[in-house]
This record gives sequence, C-alpha cells and structure tokens, in this order.
Amino acid sequence: MATAVIIAAVVGGGVLLLMRRLFPRRKAVKLLQYPTDTMRGKTVIVTGANSGIGKALAGELLKLRARVIMACRDLRSAEDVAQDLKSRAGPEQGEVVIKHLDLASLRSVRNFCEEINKEEPKIDVLVNNAGIYQCPYTKTEDGFEMQFGVNHLGHFLLTHLLLDLLKASSPSRIVVVSSKLYKYGHINFDDLNSEGNYNKAFCYSQSKLANLLFTLELAHQLEGTAVTVNALTPGMVRTRLGRHVRIPLLAKPLFHLASLVFLKSPLEGAQTPLYLACSPEVEGVSGKCFANCEEEELMAKATDKQAAKKLWDISRRMVGLADSEGFRKAGPLSGCPSLKAPKSQIFGCKEEEAVESVAAAGLPLCGHLQGPLIEGLGGAIGTGVNVLCALASSCNVALPVFGAP
Ligand SMILES: NC(=O)c1ccc[n+]([C@@H]2O[C@H](COP(=O)([O-])OP(=O)(O)OC[C@H]3O[C@@H](n4cnc5c(N)ncnc54)[C@H](OP(=O)(O)O)[C@@H]3O)[C@@H](O)[C@H]2O)c1
Repeated sequence: MATAVIIAAVVGGGVLLLMRRLFPRRKAVKLLQYPTDTMRGKTVIVTGANSGIGKALAGELLKLRARVIMACRDLRSAEDVAQDLKSRAGPEQGEVVIKHLDLASLRSVRNFCEEINKEEPKIDVLVNNAGIYQCPYTKTEDGFEMQFGVNHLGHFLLTHLLLDLLKASSPSRIVVVSSKLYKYGHINFDDLNSEGNYNKAFCYSQSKLANLLFTLELAHQLEGTAVTVNALTPGMVRTRLGRHVRIPLLAKPLFHLASLVFLKSPLEGAQTPLYLACSPEVEGVSGKCFANCEEEELMAKATDKQAAKKLWDISRRMVGLADSEGFRKAGPLSGCPSLKAPKSQIFGCKEEEAVESVAAAGLPLCGHLQGPLIEGLGGAIGTGVNVLCALASSCNVALPVFGAP
C-alpha cells in the first residue's frame, strides 16, 4: 500500500513538473474595460470569427457596439456563433454581418473583397486572425502549402484588396495575429510551398514569421497615410487551433486539465487584438508587435527589412498582384502536352533566378515553377533565357514558358 502511494506521488509529481515545463505559469490577465460605445459607428472585419480568439474578439466588439463583419469559411458555424454572441452582448449592442471567406482560395478572397468594396462605405479595422496549425501536408486551391497559403498569402491578398477602402476610411487599423512560434522558423525562399520537405511545425513558424515581416513592410509602405498596421502574439490560448495535433487517448484528460490551468481562455487571448483594434493608446502606432497589450521585442529575423521586402515581392507574384502585361503578350497556351525534365534542366538556373525572371516579366507566378506543372507544359522548350508565363486554359494554372532569346 505504502509503495503504491509513493509510486503515485512520484508519477503525479513528474506529470506536474512536465506540465509546468510544457506550459509555463502564466500571469493573470486583466480584462480590458472600454466605455460601451467605444466602437459605435465603426466597422471591423475579423477573419476566423467563428472560433477561439476571433469569436471572443467579435463578441467584445459587438458589446462595444461595432458593426462586426465575421469573415468565415463555414457559414453554418458562423450563424450559430453569431446567434450566441448576440444573445450575450446585452440590449445595446452593435451589428453582426456574416460573409463567406475561405483563405485557402484566392478566388474566394477576391469575391469577398469585391463584395466588401461594393457594399461597405468604410472599414475602420481589419483583423487578420484566422489561422491553421500543423495540418497534414495539403495545398490550397491555388497550389500553395496550406499553412503558408492561409496564414500568410490569403491574408496578404485580402489586405491588399481592401487597402484602398482602408485608406479612404482612415484613420484605420490593420491588426495581424501572429505567434511567438515565429522564433522557430525562417522564410525558406527556395521552397515556399515545402514541396521538397514538409515539416508541419516549421511551416507554421514560417507562416507566423511571414505575418511579422508582412506587418513590417506594410507599415513601411503605409508611412504618410493614417492607416496603421500592428501585429500581436496572443500567448497560448485554449482554442481549437490544435485540432490537427494527435494526442494519445489516455493523455487527453490530462492535457485538457493542464490547458484549463495553464492556457489563456479565448477571452483572455482576445485582449491584445481588442487593444490594438480599440485603444486610443495605439493611435498612430504602426509596424510594432504586441503581447499582453504591451510592445514586444522581436528577434532580428522578424525585423529584417530586406527579408520583408523580398517576401513582399514574391508574395505579390504568388497571389497574382504583379503586373500581368507580359501574360497578355504571351497569350493563352492551347494545351498541356507532356514533358518530363527536372526543373534545373529546364531553367538552366536556380529556381530563385527563374522566379525573378518571371517577376521581371511582370507575370503571375501562382507558386508553381516545378513538378507537375512543368511536366504539363509541353515539349517546345529551347535553351532560351526569356521566361514568360501564360495561363494554360486546359491546366487552369500559370505556367512558365521559355522562348528563344
Ligand atoms: N491558440 C493559441 O494558442 C494561439 C497561439 C498563437 C497564435 N495563435 C493564432 O491565433 C489565431 C486564431 O487562432 P485560434 O487559436 O483562435 O484557433 P481556432 O479556434 O482554430 O480558430 C481559427 C479560425 O481560423 C479559421 N480558419 C482556418 N482556416 C481558414 C480558411 N482557410 N479560411 C478562413 N478561415 C479559416 C477557422 O475556421 P473553422 O472554424 O472553419 O476551421 C477558425 O475560425 C491564429 O492565427 C493562430 O495562429 C493562436
């Protein structure tokens, strides 16, 4: 009996220590209190507002009488959440509008922005919150690795397409939800879609670093306007973000318990984005990152202006924002006869140089310069160096085409 008690105490103590290590003790979070009509007359877009931090943020904004546009990919879930938020926001509340937005589809992002630009006279705050974490290797509709595609590229295009409206509505704010896990990533410019090797933890970190570099460059580009952009890291929050992480069945209750003790609630996790969306204290502040409603110092990799500009330029091409003059000159391809050749043979140069050549031609890149697309391109490839891009109607993708010099 005594042995059993000792073993139980040792095992229990070990588990507790492990949990402490995994989930460092957190400070109590003080909930923000703003006057109830702080956001009256303001329109706020929150991506991923049907779950976790986005849901809690939407609820708080509704209480502060904002017009909240919930930008969600699952409309049924968004409807249920909107009902729930409205029923808890009190008699004097703002307004909820639900719009479909799938960040894993550039078409969906474009449709969403077209509707917003047509229907909304102004946008005061855009909160780029939606995110996906450590999913198995999948690609977005446009062929981008899912975490990079949703967390960075989808929001990149979204922000660009709403920028004129944000400028016209200024003073206005853009809020970008990143993560401290950016520390474990770098931007793998050689293989942004992780086609060579997929490490799901690295790809999440890469996408969250991309959020910070995006914030840095956008703040630079917005200098002289009254549109600000700031990022934040919410800390560890009890949400559905970890849905792709497999926890052994027996360990689940323990993790659940630990999460209740050590992780922030969604409402606590929503305090910093709420602060950045509402607080007069950050009026005019731009290009910074915040944690627990205070400015956070970032590692050098997240304040690297050159990397930020490089990522910006490549992202523009990947989402098709670069000038498409060359494409019009090239005209559409008529088919996709098969061609098998390794990309190095085709380009005769590094992929990065090929990417730059395509960019120099001002063509949409769509993230594909390799693999099946090259194979689908067709036999007539010479040794020329002119890289053009054309949209092959039968492939429905942007393809690199090599012409004679
Ligand atoms: N929880 C944390 O500890 C933590 C820590 C650091 C950073 N973050 C960041 O916080 C943000 C919010 O995450 P969360 O913790 O609140 O997780 P969550 O509960 O899983 O919420 C994520 C939201 O993003 C939406 N989403 C995912 N893919 C989408 C797509 N393709 N198009 C549109 N919406 C999409 C989800 O929609 P569905 O419901 O339809 O899936 C959901 O509404 C993320 O950017 C995350 O990286 C969270």
